[in-house]
Order: sequence, then structure tokens, then C-alpha cells
Amino acid sequence: MRLLAGVLAWALAFAPVVVQAKSVFAHFMVGNTKSFVLNDWVQEIAYAKAARIDAFALNIAYDDYVTQLQLPLAFSAAEAVGFKLFFSFDYAGNGPWPKSEVISMISYYAASSAYFQYNGKPFVSTFEGPERSEDWTDIKASTGCFFIPDWSSLGAKDAWALGTADGLFSWEGWPNGPNNVSTYGDASYFMYLDGAPYMAPISPWFYTNMPGYNKNWLWRGDDMWFDRWQQLIVGELQPEFVQIISWNDYGERQDLRYPFGPEYGKAPYNYVKNMPHDGWRQFLPFVIELWKTGTATVETEGITAWFRPNPATACSDGGTTGNTATQLQLEFQPQEIVQDKVFYSALLGSDATVTVFIGGRSIPGDWSNKPYGNVGVFHGSVNTGGAGGNVIVRITRGGSTVMETSGKGAISAGCANGLTNFNAYVDAGTGGSSGKKTPKAIKDLVPIAGTGVNEFVKLCEFTCKYAYCPEAACTATKFGDAIELPDPTGVIAYPAEGKSAAFGGLCRFACNLGYCPEDLCSLVEKPTYEGDVSPFVQPACTSGTATGDLQGLCSYACNWGFCPIHACTCLSTGPLHLPTPEQEGDIKTAVTTDGSPDYGLCLFACSRGYCPKPCFVPPKLPVLSPDPGNDGDSIGYTLLSVLSDYTLVRMWASASDEVEDALAEQTCSVGKRATYRRHASRHGVTTRDLEKRASDPCLHSTVAALLGSPKLVSMLVGLYRGNPIPGVALGVSQLPGYATSVMTNTFINGLSTASN
Ligand SMILES: *[C@@H]1O[C@H](CO)[C@@H](O)[C@H](O)[C@H]1NC(C)=O
Repeated sequence: MRLLAGVLAWALAFAPVVVQAKSVFAHFMVGNTKSFVLNDWVQEIAYAKAARIDAFALNIAYDDYVTQLQLPLAFSAAEAVGFKLFFSFDYAGNGPWPKSEVISMISYYAASSAYFQYNGKPFVSTFEGPERSEDWTDIKASTGCFFIPDWSSLGAKDAWALGTADGLFSWEGWPNGPNNVSTYGDASYFMYLDGAPYMAPISPWFYTNMPGYNKNWLWRGDDMWFDRWQQLIVGELQPEFVQIISWNDYGERQDLRYPFGPEYGKAPYNYVKNMPHDGWRQFLPFVIELWKTGTATVETEGITAWFRPNPATACSDGGTTGNTATQLQLEFQPQEIVQDKVFYSALLGSDATVTVFIGGRSIPGDWSNKPYGNVGVFHGSVNTGGAGGNVIVRITRGGSTVMETSGKGAISAGCANGLTNFNAYVDAGTGGSSGKKTPKAIKDLVPIAGTGVNEFVKLCEFTCKYAYCPEAACTATKFGDAIELPDPTGVIAYPAEGKSAAFGGLCRFACNLGYCPEDLCSLVEKPTYEGDVSPFVQPACTSGTATGDLQGLCSYACNWGFCPIHACTCLSTGPLHLPTPEQEGDIKTAVTTDGSPDYGLCLFACSRGYCPKPCFVPPKLPVLSPDPGNDGDSIGYTLLSVLSDYTLVRMWASASDEVEDALAEQTCSVGKRATYRRHASRHGVTTRDLEKRASDPCLHSTVAALLGSPKLVSMLVGLYRGNPIPGVALGVSQLPGYATSVMTNTFINGLSTASN
């Protein structure tokens, strides 16, 4: 056997990566812990430790009262058992964090023995916030922190160019369109970081339907939890950190827990209830060990299976899209993205047979992926073929059952509230044993299969088979002993004319082994592509149209990649047209005059200076009187959007005498206010409460009085300044019976009077 060129390249790529201490984190939404007591933290931390997770990345939004309540509990629970925590400052959830707050939070909590340290420095991350990048020069000087933000909205190149980060975290954990998850995002981070620490994302799923937060889309989950771990384990380039997105973001169903909620966001139905995700943690100790050390031992065998409770087209899709125009992605119908299958992974010490039962009907399964030597994680799926009923996945050897899933979850064509649920039900079983088995170490294996995207598929499939699977162009999917190379032809090849330079290595390698597709490779050196568009990006929408009122808006917005599938028809696709700087407006709200749905088109177009009928931008509010540290304009604006039932309930709940007196003149009975107050203090305020109150005459009369009373408006302003309400944006306009323009004018007058 000849020396395998690919193997050599592989080994070299491996050698210089001296990884100091790999760590796996899980993104943890502190905002979802409103009702936690100490013991809840103890429990979550115990689960995370059992899964071999090193730390929680605590997502904290600015000025959220839940943070201040819960952090002391979280840290004391973690200190008690030697678990670690660090902050992930969320700059999107509730606006940017002031620099001084960030400094005091880090200074205070970094002293805890539970705060995660990296090379002796407190470790700090973010969700977004690149516009505040300069703050970090001072924050780092004051706190000595190690700073590894997620600034994915800019992409690796521009985020790194800001110059204040010590490493970067990528949020690109999901596939775009009907595709498997890939490593192109990672490759771009590795390239620009050039050796600085990289934190790679991994997620099991994504489905959210929270119109209250303008979120209603899914990305393909399917095989992702298996595929992505595989990519991380065998990746040619190794990140130093992996962050699981997420531990408990139930609202986006990318979590690993048995959840509550979604309480907020005006979810049209509870897509979370009775849908556990805990089974996805079952093999974490094994895969994390394998990722960290390149070897791990199978002791107890197990099976994890997941599936959606309804076939994709069973009921109404509830307006959910595959991909989202809000991120300038080409949108799909959800059923074009998700596959009606039962997916399963099994941790086994030897080969076994898998069978899926749906409502008692048996479907023979097979493995799309088997680990080398049949020791490790096996994976596969079966089409449901329209079957309904409880789902059991059974592992057998020699005809006898080794183990099976609980079978508590079912698939049904009947949907709760008539809406298809795109969440996953995750089931698990355990109990098999093949004795203690340790698979061959990763470093002793090479890629023997792989794939790519767009024009790279064919070449990657060929070269990856022979261990040449460069991560910048291809994604390896299978590892094993090197396959013998075909005889070299001796030709030297280059990318074909106008093709990306990224084809260089692949053409050289493949053509020399006798596979030389003319459309991609050339035997003569030719000019390569010079433009800015990455050959790996998924196409965006580049033109579109609609019928009726939205025609003009669609033809404008689709041209810039914003082409919501429920309003517009995309007519052509290609590289995304990037906006010109003049198009970047600062308008934050735009709606249709008659309140009909516009799928975000009005905001997109009006904020870029094109604002045709039926769009309307609510007038700006007057600047309020002195307001240190904040500009009144934005407060007034925010107020308008949060002047909600929630605010009023908090006024009741806070029950200062002044507020009570002012409200007492209204038609609501004292008893009713007392009920609200009790409820608010005991349970917080749920979406259902808000919706109930939106049709409550007591609330309506209060709103009317509020708008007419300068005293109340000024109290409201004060209350709002003292207690901003995170994430709640049920606007006045959504209260039935109040025309937006009337409300706006009255409110503006009220505010002007109040601020004089
Ligand atoms: C996606 O991943 C699954 C599981 O690893 C695999 O069976 C399937 O072939 C992949 N699809 C493509 C198009 O690569």
C-alpha cells in the first residue's frame, strides 16, 4: 500500500492543535427561572453534571428582575457541588447592557468559586452586542475577563475585526433549508480566528411559535443531534469549547429538558407540554468524553428515539415557516424542511437489529451510521409511512429484545388546537450490555466518507472517501481505516475558469486519482472567481412578487432577501443583495393602517426609506423631561409598546396609595383589583391572564382614564423607569375597541402634559 497523501495531510492538520482544556457548556436562560427555588437549581445542576457538562452559560437580559432574584441561588447551588457558571450577556433580549453594569456583575460574581475561569480569568460570553464592542476595552481592563462573544450577526470576519474579543462563539448551529447541518460556519471561524479560541455551537432542534416576539419558524432538526456531535468528534480542526444551545430555551424548543411554558410570546397553543427532551442527554457522557479525549468506553447500552407528534401536513401549519425571512433566509413551507420519520441513536458495544413500532405496526429499521468496529453511537431513521399510534423503538440481538424505548409518546393526525406541532418527542430506554467496550481512538481513524454543499457535493464525496476531507470545503460523515487509493494519473489540476479557489485542493487531489469533473476542474490554470460571495452559502431570494395590496412591498423586499412566504412569492434566488448604507434606517415600528398582517414587510421597507400604502409608521413620541442615562425618546417609544395589561396589573400589584387612589375613580371594583394583585404577586402574570384581561371592561376603562390623566401617565413613566418589563410587548393597539391613531394621539398628549 502506498503512502496515503490524504492521511498525511490529515495527520499534519491534527498535530499542531494543542488544545489546552476542552470544555462543554450549555446555554441556560435565566429568564426562564422566574419560579425557581434553590432546590430547582440543585436539580438542574445535578442533571448537567451527570451529563458531563462543565458549566452553564447563564443568559441574562439587561434589567430583568428574575436575574437579580435567581443569581444568588444559582451560585450557591453551584458552589455546593463544584459546578461552574459564567455569564452570557444578552444584548438583544432587552437592549444593550450598560458598561458599568457589566463590570459590576463580573466583578461581584467572578469572586465565587463557582464562576468558570479560563487560564485564571473569568470567562464571559454574550448573545450579540457587536455595536457595544468598544465597551469591552474598559470591561476587560477592569475585570481581567476572558471575552468570547457571539457576534454571529456580523459573521466571523467582521466580528473578529472589531478587535475586542479574545475568541468567538458562533450561533450558526442549524442548517439552512432542507439540508443536514454542516461545518462551513466552523471553517470560516477557524480561518479568521487563526488559532484564537473558538466556541462551536451544537443544538438538537429548533421550533418556535411565539408571535408576541415575532418568532414563528423552524429549522431542520431531524438527524442533527447525531450528525453534529459526529462532526465535532471527528472534525479536522478542533474547537476549544462547545456550547449546547440550549439547556432550557423551551420557547424555541432547542432544549434538553422536560419543560414548562411557553408562558409568554402569545403562543397560539402549548407546543411544549408533555414533550420531554431529556432523552437527548442520555449519551452526552459518552460523546463528550469521546470529543474531549478521542476515546471513551461503552458500559451500559442505551437507545434514544425522537419524532414529531403530528405528520408535517396533518393540520394547519399555524403560519410557521421553514427558515425565516427575518434573518434574510429563503423561506420554505415547513413540510419541505422536516421529514416524517422516527429518528434513533443507540449506544452499543456490538451490532444489533433495530425495529420501530408505530401503533403496533412494525417497521424494520436500519442504521445509516455505524461506528467503527461496531462500538459507539449507531444512528438511523425510518419513514413513518403515515402510521399513527404509540412509538416504540426496540433493539434486538438474535431475536431477543435487548432494550426498548418507553413507548409513551405517539404520532397522531389529530392536532391540539388544529395546529401541527413541530416540536420533538424524545423517548429513551436503557439496559443492554455487551460488556465494557472501548472503540478505536479517533486519532487512529481517517475519513472514509463525506459530503459538501452546492457544487462541492461530487468532489467532496470522492475525496473524503480517500481521507482527504478538508473542513473548509467538505464535511466528513464516516471514519474508519484508510481505503487504498486508486493509481495516480499524474495530472495536475486547478479550479475551472471562474470557479472558487476553494476547489484548488480538491481538484488537485481528485484529478490525480482519475476523477476530474470538467465543469469544476481544469488541467490548465485559469482565472478563479474574484467576487465576495462564498461558494458555500445557501441561496437567498433576489426578486419576488405578490397579488393585491402587498405587491409593491413584496417586489421591493424580496429583492433584498426579505420574502416572507405567507405574503410573497419568491421569483429568483442567488447571492443575497446587501443593503446600501442609506437603506439603514432607525424606524423600530411600522404596521398596516388597517391592522392586517404584513409579515414584517412594512417594518422592513419603511425602515429602508420605502413606505408605501398600506404601511404606516406611528408618530414619534415627544422627548420626556430629564432622564439621566437614557434618552427620553426611546423610553417614550418603548412605553408605547409596553403600555400593556401587564403594566397595569403591576400598578395594581404595586398598590402604592397614590395609584390606588387614582384608580379608585374608575369603574373597576375594589374586589377585582385585589384579585389581580393577589394573582400577580403569587404567580406572576401569564399570557393567558393578559389575554383574558384584554377583553375586560375594567381594564378598558382604566386605559381610557390613564390616557386622559397626566398624573397617571407620569406615574406610569416612573413605574416603567423603575421596573422595565422585559420582553413583554403587548401594545395598546392590540386592545380591542381602541383605534391605534386615537390611542396614539391621546397618549402623546398625555405624555406631553405629564412631562411639563
Ligand atoms: C443527513 O444525515 C443523515 C444521518 O447522518 C444521513 O443518513 C443522510 O444521508 C444525510 N443526508 C445527506 C443529504 O447528506
